[in-house]
Amino acid sequence: MKIVSVVGTRPNFMKEYSLFKAFKDNDIEEVIVHTGQHYDFEMSLLFFQELDIPNPNYIADVIKGDHGKQTGAMLALVEEVLQEEKPDLTIVCGDVNSTVAGALASAKLRIPVAHIEAGLRSVSYYNPEEINRRVADTCSEILFPHIQEAYDSLLGEGYSPENVHLCGDVMKDTLLSIQRDFKIRAERGNYHLLTLHRAENTDDAERLQSIVSALNESEASFVFPVHPRTRACLKHFGLLKELEDNPRIELLPPLGYLDFIKYLAGADKVLTDSGGVRREAYILKKPVILLIDIVWVRSMVEKGYALIVDADKEKILDAIVNFRPPAERPNLFGRGDAAVKIADILVNRYVNR
Ligand code: UD1
Ligand code: UDP
Repeated sequence: MKIVSVVGTRPNFMKEYSLFKAFKDNDIEEVIVHTGQHYDFEMSLLFFQELDIPNPNYIADVIKGDHGKQTGAMLALVEEVLQEEKPDLTIVCGDVNSTVAGALASAKLRIPVAHIEAGLRSVSYYNPEEINRRVADTCSEILFPHIQEAYDSLLGEGYSPENVHLCGDVMKDTLLSIQRDFKIRAERGNYHLLTLHRAENTDDAERLQSIVSALNESEASFVFPVHPRTRACLKHFGLLKELEDNPRIELLPPLGYLDFIKYLAGADKVLTDSGGVRREAYILKKPVILLIDIVWVRSMVEKGYALIVDADKEKILDAIVNFRPPAERPNLFGRGDAAVKIADILVNRYVNR
């Protein structure tokens, strides 16, 4: 069986680590296409190097511009590769523009699509990730939601249970492997880890200002690896200097996965608007403070393990001091064997049929 995996942004690469191994173990021939959506070394090729992921077979030039221009260029690129490679299946993951480009190009060529992390719904209709996920789901022949509520959403929307498989979260597979291989233990340290990159926060001066004010007014210490988009926006809105001048805030470039997981494992609390980091923080039993009101794992919030403070300065300051969720928590993300299960289902469906 031959597949094409379409990747393009940071959150795709650590999942590719678990997927490529599972595909290899099942004799699935994998061609990796990198759309070029993320292009800085530390947002892209660093992950291939440090995690020993095979280099992409195709890697696109940098495409800068608005969503239409970026997605259109990636669509054309993936279409060309699929015409050349003629795979049995295209794999896309998550909810970024590369996901939707890969899924759409493939479905139009009548090449079946598998969508990993399908089905998540935030009911935030114009959120870019929500749009990408809905389109990718529509284009997919086989869907792999990573959590129960995503599985339930898909069935509720009329997807056939024969095509929807709940296998767990590939991101957890990678996290557990790396923790085991590098003996990383989760302990509550004396700093909080912060990540911030959602367009809703970075592109809105008022929200960004409010979050930065909370950091500056807090007496706590923070480690803050800064996404390139966020650095550019902080600079643009004149907010970067005050963060740089604050001795309690360690501003870092985007980190490799190993370094990031070490900081995450050692953090006291985690403040984030990331879809992936909130799940990793939950798995490592950290209090999760959400800097956006988009809920991607409802039970995390409803049961009090994650707290939405949005960009509200007073709520952020209060949560930094007072948020104490229970340490013991239910398993929401599977058993760390999602990639193996996915590969097995693909072989049974497309090879042993
Ligand atoms: C994208 C995804 C988002 C995901 C995030 C993961 C979409 C619509 N958004 O957001 O869902 O959570 O990736 O990190 O697909 N930039 C660089 N260097 C890079 C990458 C980006 O400088 O290597 C800067 C550029 O100014 C670029 C901007 O960041 O224009 C935005 O990049 P883009 O890939 O469009 O969106 P992200 O904000 O990274
Ligand atoms: N991550 C990383 N270095 C960093 C910040 C995050 O390796 O400096 C990892 C993190 O462990 C998680 C993934 O990047 O696996 C999440 O990506 P991001 O927050 O960019 O995107 P999202 O998950 O919100 O789409």
